[in-house]
Amino acid sequence: MPRAVTPKAAKPKKNTKRSPKRPNEKVHLQFTVNGELAEVAFLPHHTLLEVLREDMGLTGTKHGCELGECGACTVIVDGKPVLSCLMLALHAEGREIETIEGMADANGVLHPLQEAFAELGAAQCGYCTPGVLLSAKKLLDHTPRPSLIQIKEALAGNICRCTGYIKIYEAVELAAARAAGEKAEPRKESVYGY
Ligand code: FES
Ligand code: FES
Repeated sequence: MPRAVTPKAAKPKKNTKRSPKRPNEKVHLQFTVNGELAEVAFLPHHTLLEVLREDMGLTGTKHGCELGECGACTVIVDGKPVLSCLMLALHAEGREIETIEGMADANGVLHPLQEAFAELGAAQCGYCTPGVLLSAKKLLDHTPRPSLIQIKEALAGNICRCTGYIKIYEAVELAAARAAGEKAEPRKESVYGY
């Protein structure tokens, strides 16, 4: 069975240069966000979450517990889901980062997962939704037709206080079926018994 991919703290990559001499001195680093090279100046103790939201204005990545527990801050770093509240932005140098702002295509056409979430009402307050969508996207990238168990495992690090998860799981199933070329429609009633 393919290994579940659950958001976790990224391992620090090599820390190259441009380390600040004082803690309040900004560092300038480059990394790629949603396919575009960005050069960003930020305080060295700031997390990737803070830099994305506060320095780059990418507020789709949500600020939840800041403790690595809720998954609201999930982004994709070098192809893996990562909790951006636990990753120092310094460690993002040279990496490829995907955020929810890059999930629709350049023309604004939603990703099939976003379509399915909207169609099924798989979000209520929506605070967890960017992180859930990115975790689900990574699952489907590696496991195009996941089982329910695999979906649950892949989303185990993303906490939702509103939906009860059933619509979320069904939306991932629906998007996977459609991506596989099936003419799938939303279920008339939940197969999970509640
Ligand atoms: S804000 Fe990062 S895990 Fe909750
Ligand atoms: S939709 Fe509200 S926390 Fe998930």
